[in-house]
Amino acid sequence: MQNHEDFIKDLTGYLKKSAEADSGKSAERLRKLVGQEKEPTPPSLFTPIRVGAFNLAHRVVLAPLTRMRSEMPGNVPGPAMVKYYEQRATRGGLLIAEATFVSRQGNGGFGSPGIENDEQAAGWRQVVKAVHAKGATMVLQLWHVGRVSHTSLQRNGEIPVAPSAIDAGLGVLLEGKPGPATPPRALETDEIAGVVEQYRAAARRAKDAGFDGIELHAANGYLIDQFLQDGSNKRTDRYGGSIENRARFLFEVVDAVTKVFPSDRVGVRIGPSNTFNEMHDSDPEALFSYVAAGLRDRKIAYLHVIEPRVKGNSVVNDHPPVAAANLKPIFGGPVIAAGGFDGKGAEGIVREGKVDMVGFGRHFIANPDLPRRLKEGLSLNPYRRETFYYGGDTGYLDYPTSDELETTAAA
Ligand SMILES: Cc1cc2nc3c(=O)[nH]c(=O)nc-3n(C[C@H](O)[C@H](O)[C@H](O)COP(=O)(O)O)c2cc1C
Repeated sequence: MQNHEDFIKDLTGYLKKSAEADSGKSAERLRKLVGQEKEPTPPSLFTPIRVGAFNLAHRVVLAPLTRMRSEMPGNVPGPAMVKYYEQRATRGGLLIAEATFVSRQGNGGFGSPGIENDEQAAGWRQVVKAVHAKGATMVLQLWHVGRVSHTSLQRNGEIPVAPSAIDAGLGVLLEGKPGPATPPRALETDEIAGVVEQYRAAARRAKDAGFDGIELHAANGYLIDQFLQDGSNKRTDRYGGSIENRARFLFEVVDAVTKVFPSDRVGVRIGPSNTFNEMHDSDPEALFSYVAAGLRDRKIAYLHVIEPRVKGNSVVNDHPPVAAANLKPIFGGPVIAAGGFDGKGAEGIVREGKVDMVGFGRHFIANPDLPRRLKEGLSLNPYRRETFYYGGDTGYLDYPTSDELETTAAA
């Protein structure tokens, strides 16, 4: 038996076709019969949407943003982080918390928060509580940086790990200023299950802290991405070589965390055209199509895709860029696109049906009330790059809302 939703879907398709055939007369009659007054209008950024287990009132998503403002030592979310996320929470909004290390081994930034111990989870609990009080949904981005690390960030000054021991000449956010990464060692095959377990344990703590779900950080050249792309994965065991082998680590992690959260509370973020952290692959289209299909089969809540920085006929590492719109038909479920959007661009891509939601990074840093500003067409505060990662409360908690700007102007 067809369920009601499928029936309406079929009928909507039929209505469209018959409208074309008889210039709308019988479609009109049928629409009245099922109580559907008008032809379905394309969604906007402010059309509610169900994403996995989440009911969202709008599609302006807070992209995950490393801000390095946790309390040190300990990498514990404190009151400043509570305030920062609370400022950006809206009823029915989706906030993706910043990259949070699953273990000290996966730490790639001084002042980045962790979710490795109970103290860090307790700090996050206060953040989630404040965000939930404003009616928003919040997921935690789980992070293991792999080779993008430094001995000073590791427990007992250990050497960072990676799929392969490649010194890619990377930079890391160290205490006070960025510095060079420590060249990594390659993980032994029998160590990998332990790293997968780090993700599972972190998901468990995220759940205990009250998060609605998690997002796996599989983009931007961090550990999962290092396994996926053959520029950084030169392994000859079952985690390297073919696309199937290189995607194995990601899928093992997904399968581990979905033992903690149901799959409809787990998202995955990928960056198929990203070159940051010296990433490249010989066939990104084949690789990320395979990834999207594997995630479809696992029925995760959403696929989050960082858009290529180049458009049209340009190439990335000699390949045509792989955009969110290329992967949506393969994945089949809700897709978030992020990277370089303003309100107009975001509205356009959602209206065209190419993606379902848009993640905002830098504009959301500078505009705590971004959803309202986009909805009402208000102007945006400019962001200040120099305080993205360093600067305490400055550039973190002091960006005004449009109401605050009005009050200051009136005074
Ligand atoms: C300060 C800063 C920190 C970021 N931290 C993260 C992060 O923790 N995890 C992640 O997946 N992406 C991170 N990104 C990438 C953003 O989520 C986003 O994809 C990028 O900023 C492009 O979107 P935008 O043009 O709206 O800023 C970061 C970007 C910036 C500017």
